Amino acid sequence: MKTIIIQFGGTGDLALKKLYPAYEQLINKGYDFTVLALGRRYTTKEEFLTSTLHEETNKGFLDKLDYLYYDMKDVTSPKKLSSKMKELINDEKEVELIYYLALQPSLYEEAISQIQETDASMDCLCTLTKKIVVEKPFGFDLESAKRYNAILQTAFTDKEIFRIDHYLGKEFMQNLLIMRFHNDIIRSIWDKDSIESIQIVFDETHGVDQRLGFYEQIGVVRDTIQNHILQIITYLTMNEPASLSPEDIAVEKVKVLRAITPIEEFHMGRYESLGVNSGHIVDTPTYAALRLYVNTYFFAGIPIFVRTGKMQKDAKSLIYVKFKNTTKQVMHDDSIAENGVIINIHPELTIDISMNLKEPNTSWKSKPVRFRFNQTETFGANTPEAYEQIVQKILQGDKSLFPSMREITESWRIVTPMLETNLPIEVYPVRTLPRFATKLAADNEFQWFV
Ligand SMILES: NC(=O)c1ccc[n+]([C@@H]2O[C@H](COP(=O)([O-])OP(=O)(O)OC[C@H]3O[C@@H](n4cnc5c(N)ncnc54)[C@H](OP(=O)(O)O)[C@@H]3O)[C@@H](O)[C@H]2O)c1
Repeated sequence: MKTIIIQFGGTGDLALKKLYPAYEQLINKGYDFTVLALGRRYTTKEEFLTSTLHEETNKGFLDKLDYLYYDMKDVTSPKKLSSKMKELINDEKEVELIYYLALQPSLYEEAISQIQETDASMDCLCTLTKKIVVEKPFGFDLESAKRYNAILQTAFTDKEIFRIDHYLGKEFMQNLLIMRFHNDIIRSIWDKDSIESIQIVFDETHGVDQRLGFYEQIGVVRDTIQNHILQIITYLTMNEPASLSPEDIAVEKVKVLRAITPIEEFHMGRYESLGVNSGHIVDTPTYAALRLYVNTYFFAGIPIFVRTGKMQKDAKSLIYVKFKNTTKQVMHDDSIAENGVIINIHPELTIDISMNLKEPNTSWKSKPVRFRFNQTETFGANTPEAYEQIVQKILQGDKSLFPSMREITESWRIVTPMLETNLPIEVYPVRTLPRFATKLAADNEFQWFV
């Protein structure tokens, strides 16, 4: 069977930085598919290849990469695409087409209708199967997500639709489930009896000025909270699934999302210089901090604090699960600072279990000591990148790393108050934590782990 990935947004940031390296890796590993990149930035294939690829790009991948100048505003584009596809299909008998939409969400509706038009004018003599891959965020809000889905369903079955949240392809996410459900010691303490609070921190150092036009429509809530952060929360708090099938995992994730109570405490800000370089100041939030609760039997009452955004001093992503300290009365040690699990996601993947142990030469003075798992030291530096795992699953038709439509719908419902708020957006100096993040910690009597 011949597989062709039709890459909408084939000249964009995502394609160049993440998708082509993933395709190259998979082709090196023996997967066989052709990539047809679509875009407007380059007129010819030669121009595209010389402008986008680096010297070390593998020849095997280059042979599989093709380009078509494609402007979605031009009504003749679908015809051009179908004749290019006929050329690529040639006399193959069995063909799989994977339409990959790496576009800003506002272009999805148009892209889907052009795909339908392309399909209709292709009339190949082969057996055609199809898949469609849609980048996050899926939609712009609850209403548009439902509308996009309805449009997708006019041309594809749910089995053929892959909605991306590439965090699900990250090793730490899959490890969260193994850690929680394959270790009795963790399983027995992973609930409201033992956990005091959970922190999720996602700080990035870069800004968005290069992609301002795109980001100003998106903002921090659509960029990370509606998808990555809520997915992490489902993995941290879901019940053990009946099996590891995508369907059984999705059932448990939906239960978590449905149990998230309306977010009442949230704050947003934007970095001071947003848009200054382009002379186009916008009031799009680039940072948010919030508190939420998952109101299930095992997790009700545990506050989950989230802090995420751009232009911070250090790039740090971590999850800190803090355990209760009910031993204070016995040990008479108020200085006990941390007893928990710390999952460091960036800059490197480590999992620490922190315990309080006796400091030598003291009289019963304890000190937090960390026991560390380091992904690279234990398993080597060959863990596949998230997009490689994601694309591999798409090729295999395995939906285990893709959020279901129900999860996406629930996630939009949860963030709606943040999207519709009239709260003022605090302006924060670059490389500085917004004041509201510090205040959230003070008001809730905790300290950010980093
Ligand atoms: N960048 C990332 O790291 C990243 C990570 C995760 C998810 N995503 C998601 O991936 C999607 C794309 O993001 P991106 O960062 O790659 O955006 P981007 O760099 O702005 O690229 C947008 C792409 O859309 C194409 N495009 C725009 N208008 C078009 C038109 N009228 N006709 C044909 N093509 C058109 C552009 O082609 P030309 O420039 O050639 O016209 C370009 O290839 C978004 O949904 C984003 O949320 C991105």
